[in-house]
Amino acid sequence: MKIGITPGTFDPITLGHIDIIKRASHIVDKLIVSVAESSSKSPVFSLEERVSMACEALRDFENIEVDGFGGLLVDFAKKYNASYVIKGLRVITDFEYEFQQTALNSELAPDIETIFVMAPPQSMYLSSTMVRELASLHSDISSFVPKNVEKALNRKFNS
Ligand code: COA
Repeated sequence: MKIGITPGTFDPITLGHIDIIKRASHIVDKLIVSVAESSSKSPVFSLEERVSMACEALRDFENIEVDGFGGLLVDFAKKYNASYVIKGLRVITDFEYEFQQTALNSELAPDIETIFVMAPPQSMYLSSTMVRELASLHSDISSFVPKNVEKALNRKFNS
């Protein structure tokens, strides 16, 4: 059975992430969407909130699970017997950073392969920071995030 993980901070999950996740789920038999604690990024949503938003947004996909993690990505991948890390690539500026992470991960766990899926043109520019900023300015975010995330963002920035 081919098992893959798609990691990220998902603060919050966007339609751009979901596009990558959907395509990644066609490459493997089982995909674990791995929500990182990422405490250095001081996420706006707690780990539990980010996991729960991703679970709800992805509940219709049979071979996708969502789980949170702290610590090393490769340790999390080993916990699930995952052989693949599948990530999205958007703009050219992602490349250098992704290249560094991939090199480090393959040094730590040579048996785990990283695969990149290109983001489509409509989500090349999308990021969780941008969506949070739009929500904080009470702009319409319905074309960037799933409905449950839209509600959560509106609650967060209207409270
Ligand atoms: N659609 C929308 N947004 C996208 C996207 C897409 N297709 N692809 C990337 N992004 C955005 C994200 O929204 C996020 O935006 P933000 O910075 O505004 O929040 C940004 O691109 C990527 O950030 P993030 O999700 O945090 O991913 P990352 O590439 O920085 O890596 C981990 C996160 C969890 C994979 C990485 O930090 C990690 O492996 N941590 C564990 C510790 C470890 O093992 N370290 C050693 C290896 S480096």
